[in-house]
Amino acid sequence: PRHKIAIVVGSLRKDSINRKVARSICAFASDRLDCSIVEIGSLPLYDQDSDANPPAEYVRFREQIAAADGILFCTPEYNRGVPGVLKNAIDVGSRPYGASVWDKKPAAIVSASPGGIGGFGANHQLRQACVFLNMPVMQQPEAYLGHVTDDSFDGEGCLREGPLKQLVMSLAAAFADWVDLIVRSRRLLAE
Ligand code: FNR
Repeated sequence: PRHKIAIVVGSLRKDSINRKVARSICAFASDRLDCSIVEIGSLPLYDQDSDANPPAEYVRFREQIAAADGILFCTPEYNRGVPGVLKNAIDVGSRPYGASVWDKKPAAIVSASPGGIGGFGANHQLRQACVFLNMPVMQQPEAYLGHVTDDSFDGEGCLREGPLKQLVMSLAAAFADWVDLIVRSRRLLAE
């Protein structure tokens, strides 16, 4: 059976390159992973006062993440860090205290940028949050995708032939292996 993956994209931009990379990973791994993008743009800013009586958007988001076997983050870097919209979604999912929906979910982190550093800062900031959230994050291949622009994709939004496509294909395969490993290990431990 295919593992269910929730993809969280750190950009709300309609033509986001990170969203296109996310879609490419969905396509490349479609025989092994059932991926869907969980939208985060309408989540109100996290407010701890709402823990007891959360807005419907929080409840729905938490359910969508809880239902997934694994999480794929595809994010731009904003001012050398994680975009606020993505950090907000992470904070919303992490609470109320003790009820984090991120706990133990296998994950991978991809950052894409037109710049040369490939979102390294955002990627590692997010990695650090995942350490605290107890998410086993895939180590390799690392995915700091630099020099990614609209030209990296064809009219259908598919990656053009080249090294970037090769890297994203290997990423998709490694992520499917990673989620499988973690899900199976947990099953064994539960027996
Ligand atoms: C950026 N961008 C950017 N790029 C980068 O490599 N490092 C950075 O620190 C920043 N900072 C930054 C801040 C803000 C507020 C914006 C709007 C943009 C450029 C960014 O990588 C570029 O706009 C990407 O296309 C954004 O990703 P999406 O939306 O295409 O997925």
